[in-house]
Amino acid sequence: MEQVRRLLQSRYGDRIPLAYVHTYGCQQNVSDGEKIKGMLALMGYGFCESPREANLILLNTCAIRENAEDRVLGTIGAMKHQRVNDPELVLGLCGCMVQQPHIEQKIRESYPYVDLLFGPHVIKNLPQMLYSVLTSHKRAFDTTETNEGIPEDLPIRRDQAFKAWLPIMSGCNNFCTYCIVPYVRGREKSRPSQKIIEEFTALVNEGYKEITLLGQNVNSYGKGLDEDIDFARLLRKLNAIPGDFRIRFMSSHPKDATFALIDAIADCEKVCKHFHLPVQSGSDRILALMNRHYTKADYMKLINYAKEKIPDISFTSDIIVGFPGETETDFEETLSLLKEVEFDSLFSFIYSKRVGTKAAEMEDPTTPEEKSERFSRLLALEKEIGAKRYENFVGKTYRILVDGPGKTGPSYYSGRNDGYMIVDYDGKEEDIGTFVTVKITKSLNWALLGERVEDQ
Ligand code: SAH
Ligand code: SF4
Ligand code: F3S
Repeated sequence: MEQVRRLLQSRYGDRIPLAYVHTYGCQQNVSDGEKIKGMLALMGYGFCESPREANLILLNTCAIRENAEDRVLGTIGAMKHQRVNDPELVLGLCGCMVQQPHIEQKIRESYPYVDLLFGPHVIKNLPQMLYSVLTSHKRAFDTTETNEGIPEDLPIRRDQAFKAWLPIMSGCNNFCTYCIVPYVRGREKSRPSQKIIEEFTALVNEGYKEITLLGQNVNSYGKGLDEDIDFARLLRKLNAIPGDFRIRFMSSHPKDATFALIDAIADCEKVCKHFHLPVQSGSDRILALMNRHYTKADYMKLINYAKEKIPDISFTSDIIVGFPGETETDFEETLSLLKEVEFDSLFSFIYSKRVGTKAAEMEDPTTPEEKSERFSRLLALEKEIGAKRYENFVGKTYRILVDGPGKTGPSYYSGRNDGYMIVDYDGKEEDIGTFVTVKITKSLNWALLGERVEDQ
């Protein structure tokens, strides 16, 4: 890093070179982006919001669905002109999408103006790669699969001052048949709990108010470590750290979610009473084809236990519509599950075929039109359920962590309650990054509207 810093100083003098880093995809990628920016800052880069002003452009890509990839290819296509006209500009790609061999090959062959390309396993090699590009003007590509897990001790430049992402594990061993993640992120690896506790405690001491533990499947945390720990016990340890903060976590795989985890959520006052439990489908036939290892009944057992233990718990989920071979009956099973659980919100996606996955080989007779029609029906039902649920919150009082300006009006601010619902209220700029107590006066369907009351 020091060598790059000196090189940049001799090249740019007193002017600070600027980096434009844009992250697509999930929070794991956002967290990687924060480490990449941490390294770039130590190498002497400042940051800019527009690629036009940048001396280094880095797109941290995602491979989860086709549209995520199309957007990146479109963006780099549009940057060709700028790159060709500015020989000093470094154009780089990193993240999950470029870890796929067919994409790496495509970039090598069809995008010769991309200088730098590295996969999620080797982000710590960025300084060496950048040094090589800056000194030799040759392209540097590295998609080695190390399976080393989360790199420790990299500098982190966090995007926010009061909410932090904390990865507790990397990779995934589940191989859901539609999903590219296990191929691009490699095998599951947990961080030693001591490292997590140290990072967590430092964040609390720095004043962070909400810390979200990240992993593709946090419920299998601890497997393969030399210590006697699991996710429920990790939550209890973090909850015991003194301070006024909240703990969130994502994602949970229903096959590994346990009653012990639900008990921990119930017992730990700092753990938000919100459970994001991606179900994907309500049809047992489709769940088996997806290789999810649970049935609708297994899923409902978890939901019902959680509702019994934590009456005000909020559930959210991920749904895939139009998995290969999904019939109208299968889809109706999903709708019926949604009615039974009453999720507060959903992240729903139309199935997207991913090269190299098992589902890509399956027969898929359903037309795109039918899939979009199902998707619209799902959204309509989600809205109806959400609106009904939200009505029940009028009159209740919540503690919210204020994120920033709200959408309701000029003096409105917005935050989320424990259950991850958006709450707008008439507030002040100083509230941002603090907890305030709000009494709900109205449901807006997509959010709740309230009035600030004295803290209780
Ligand atoms: N590890 C997390 C999911 C990460 S991906 C988990 O298992 O819950 C986030 C979501 O993207 C998934 O839950 C799934 O709903 C969706 N997804 C993954 N692959 C997809 C594909 N090929 N097409 C459409 N949606 C997909
Ligand atoms: Fe993908 Fe399944 Fe792993 Fe989630 S658990 S990342 S959906 S393979
Ligand atoms: Fe995308 Fe990679 Fe996350 S594929 S969803 S950025 S793990």
